[in-house]
Amino acid sequence: MEKDVFDLFHKQWGLVSAGSINHFNCCTVSWGSLGVLWNKKIVTVYIYPSRYTYEFMKENEYFTVCFFPESYKSSLAILGSKSGRDTDKVKIAKLSPIECGNSVSYKEAELTYYCKKIYSGFFDKNLVDDEIKHYYQNNPKSFPKSEDGDWQTHMMFVGEIIEVIKR
Ligand SMILES: Cc1cc2nc3c(=O)[nH]c(=O)nc-3n(C[C@H](O)[C@H](O)[C@H](O)COP(=O)(O)O)c2cc1C
Repeated sequence: MEKDVFDLFHKQWGLVSAGSINHFNCCTVSWGSLGVLWNKKIVTVYIYPSRYTYEFMKENEYFTVCFFPESYKSSLAILGSKSGRDTDKVKIAKLSPIECGNSVSYKEAELTYYCKKIYSGFFDKNLVDDEIKHYYQNNPKSFPKSEDGDWQTHMMFVGEIIEVIKR
């Protein structure tokens, strides 16, 4: 393997995008997995329901996970701290969106996984380890409570890799 998958997500960070070129949103992710499921090569990302990107991930059948050269780390920091709900953060981050099948990639991306959503769902809260539960509960700024006032988990989105684009 050319890259360490752990470094790819945890250190390099990825950008998850969903929607059409005229109406999409994206956010930085450092939690993600690459693997095999149901005999398909997959990427799994975990998106918290308060993110604007979550709405696009729910609505769209396709999404991308993009990785960038180190020089774009500051762009990823912007995309991971501002919300597309109230800013044109892609412009602020100086990225150039391009059409990628039924989704969006970026001219600046060095690696894009174009994915078809094949599963999405919350974790069963009853089965989440106490340490993780407390992590959610003790970080209300990052993880706001759900409308019913209770803690919630990220939603898991499993994408079948349809195409890998390297530049
Ligand atoms: C390094 C980094 C990693 C992040 N990883 C995730 C993640 O894996 N899942 C997630 O839901 N949010 C993650 N976030 C938070 C979102 O990127 C952030 O809340 C973003 O502003 C949401 O934008 P949106 O409202 O336009 O979707 C991360 C942020 C940073 C800076």
